Amino acid sequence: MRKILKDFRERVGIGALYYEVPAHSNSIFYSLGGITLVSIIILFASGIILSQFYNPTPEQANRSVHYIAETLLLGWFVRGIHFWAVQVVTVSVILHMIRVFVTASYKKPREFNWTVGVLLLLVYFGLIFTGTVLKWDQEAVEALEHHLWIVDKLGAIGIWLGEGLTKSVSMLGRLYALHISLLPLILVFLMLLHFFLIKIHGLSSLPRQREGEGAKILFVEHLKRLGLYGMGVLLLILLLSLTIEPPLGSEAVAGIEVTKPPWMFLWLYSLENIWMPFLIIAPAIISLFLFLIPFINRGEERNPFKRKISMVILIISILIFIGLIFNGAITSTAHIME
Ligand code: HEM
Repeated sequence: MRKILKDFRERVGIGALYYEVPAHSNSIFYSLGGITLVSIIILFASGIILSQFYNPTPEQANRSVHYIAETLLLGWFVRGIHFWAVQVVTVSVILHMIRVFVTASYKKPREFNWTVGVLLLLVYFGLIFTGTVLKWDQEAVEALEHHLWIVDKLGAIGIWLGEGLTKSVSMLGRLYALHISLLPLILVFLMLLHFFLIKIHGLSSLPRQREGEGAKILFVEHLKRLGLYGMGVLLLILLLSLTIEPPLGSEAVAGIEVTKPPWMFLWLYSLENIWMPFLIIAPAIISLFLFLIPFINRGEERNPFKRKISMVILIISILIFIGLIFNGAITSTAHIME
């Protein structure tokens, strides 16, 4: 039996996984990227099942989601898994980014991988947005109206995302195509690049250590730990899917604005209530700022206690986001899209 196992290992190259990584890879803080990956796999698997029953035409879309949620055997459960996996990925990817920022792991030589991370975040938010439209209920149609407003204001830059490009497929059909093909493809490509760069640079050392210092474990031991965290995440998603149903309205009434976006867009909803153009300006400024972080902050120091300005900026940013999300949750629509 041992010999068979050894031969098998040799043939499929599992031996390549027996390399050393820092022991702190197994801490929950340094596993948040891995937890995000596991949740994305759950997201993709449930999405593939849903795509077998979803109809992306404006006449049938809302009805087909109601069919999945109310009639299809276990359809409500798979839809719940997809919805709750989105919530878990959103929280874990944001925490992962905060961890990387606090430990200054975006500094030399990982600047480019931080940039890849920011792109991953943007593509992921693109996936959430396009996913929101697919339900084709009031919230979905209002989200699409915001999208078309942005496209209109962007003029020539936005034309390929608007209604003008083709009349043969509805906007819903085109956003669906983005949601199930182009965006997941880009996401997977960026994830592979992200992991390739992590393999090349290795995981950053703890902030108070020098690169390469500290205890080591084998990468397979880290994979086992990730498997354990992954089981925990899966259990959480299953429990949430069994107990809390994702929101779903009936077909939309055009021209009114009565719903709010999902919580991860509420900060933006708050801002557009103050001044509508913030809908374009705020994400652009935030993305630019995120991209520039490794190039602005180039000092060698990685200890968060010695990077007081960075930590103050981080805490203030988190408080502003939480404040805007709460404000969005308790206020009603106060903007007009012209
Ligand atoms: C789809 C989303 C993402 C996935 C699946 C992912 C996955 C991972 C994994 C598995 C690691 C190894 C260490 C760890 O788990 O902490 C990692 C490290 C890293 N990630 Fe991500 N990540 C994602 C998004 C991001 C974002 C949004 C950023 C920042 C803007 C980012 C920046 C980095 C950097 C700089 C490292 C190297 C950290 C180090 O060496 O300590 N990642 N990522």
